[in-house]
Amino acid sequence: MATFTSLQPRRSEAILLDLGDVASAVRNIVERYQGKRQYLMRMLQEIQKHYGYLPREALEELSRQTGIPLVDVLNVATFYHQFTLEPPGYYIIWVCMGTACHLKGNADNYDILKNILGLNNHSKTTKDGLFSLEKARCFGACSLAPVIMITSRDGSERYLHGHVNSLELRKIVAKYRSTALKKIKEKKGGRK
Ligand code: FES
Repeated sequence: MATFTSLQPRRSEAILLDLGDVASAVRNIVERYQGKRQYLMRMLQEIQKHYGYLPREALEELSRQTGIPLVDVLNVATFYHQFTLEPPGYYIIWVCMGTACHLKGNADNYDILKNILGLNNHSKTTKDGLFSLEKARCFGACSLAPVIMITSRDGSERYLHGHVNSLELRKIVAKYRSTALKKIKEKKGGRK
């Protein structure tokens, strides 16, 4: 029987990880690098690529499987800015900071989104876990500048929005918020 663990009980959608899946995902990565301490950064990068962040359970598993003390794993995971221990929001809003989008106002749009989402300088993810806000490089859709892209946390959804402005951003956030809440509700219903 699968064992699940809840990482973010305060948020509207807890992220459930199957501990068996975590062990096997980490094992695949550890085997690729022969569990060598000199490849700790690489193994952490792979874990983050797999989950979108570094789940505590995966770090514990990494320590168990490689014999590298957990405190050392955590030291590296928390020292480098490239790593995040927080799961991303249900939807991630990527604001293009490429030249065309920057010139057409995406720096302001980023601040507007921060404001709409209620984020401060220390948080990238909303308290309810529905949204994360990130900056991105050119999406190759410069004729639509300024552009934002919205992706789902699991990577299954990807939407591009062009010619965005402050009014539009409010509508977009409202639309994705209600979609995310609906999907979370459906998922919870399906788990019964
Ligand atoms: S600069 Fe934003 S899509 Fe190219």
